[in-house]
Amino acid sequence: MKSYLSPSILSADFGNLTKSIKAAEEAGAAYIHFDMMDGTFVPNISFGAPVIKAVRKDIKSFFDVHMMVEEPGRYITDVKNAGADGITVHQEACLHLDRTLNQIKEAGLKAGVALNPATPISTLDCVLPMLDLVLIMTVNPGFGGQKFIPYTLDKIRDLRKKADSLGLQLNIGVDGGVTLDNIAAIRDAGANFFIAGSAVFKPEDKIAENVRAFNRILEG
Ligand code: DX5
Ligand code: ZN
Repeated sequence: MKSYLSPSILSADFGNLTKSIKAAEEAGAAYIHFDMMDGTFVPNISFGAPVIKAVRKDIKSFFDVHMMVEEPGRYITDVKNAGADGITVHQEACLHLDRTLNQIKEAGLKAGVALNPATPISTLDCVLPMLDLVLIMTVNPGFGGQKFIPYTLDKIRDLRKKADSLGLQLNIGVDGGVTLDNIAAIRDAGANFFIAGSAVFKPEDKIAENVRAFNRILEG
């Protein structure tokens, strides 16, 4: 399967958001990852739909919105209207996951589910065929710049094996602690969608260089 980089703007300079995203887009980032946080599901607050809307008008890349909020179904219409192309919700944050995924699909968006490091992949068995993406959290969500948790590699391997055995062309994403040094090993485990925040947006004057370096590995 083709591999994709999706830079997470959580580590970008929020005072120059459009400029930073544009630098990533022009260097070859076809996806941009937006981390919405509510301060309840995760111990941090980032931004909501208005910020996504503010940058949408200048950026063409696919907007991939990772909702780290309790009961995200309440905000799907807002996030769609802000310009999202795909929404990923957390299994742990949805009491009625099937309903929430149907809401995303009925809104005409790509649907993904994220799993915290300690949540088993078997929790998605019933909904796997309706998903465009499973996002394996490779850190505990809430903050950028954390260290990759090694045992999550086994989850990626198991999920790819399961998807293959079901004949599903599933996108498997990884989010947290992805760097130029570990991305090849993560891809070998079976992931094909790579979220990277600090490794792309820091330092600010190296955004384009960082995106190209990731894409060289993914295209090589
Ligand atoms: C963490 C977020 C990530 C974060 C990744 O909760 O979901 O998308 O921005 O940041 P890095 O790549 O710095 O670990
Ligand atoms: Zn994320």
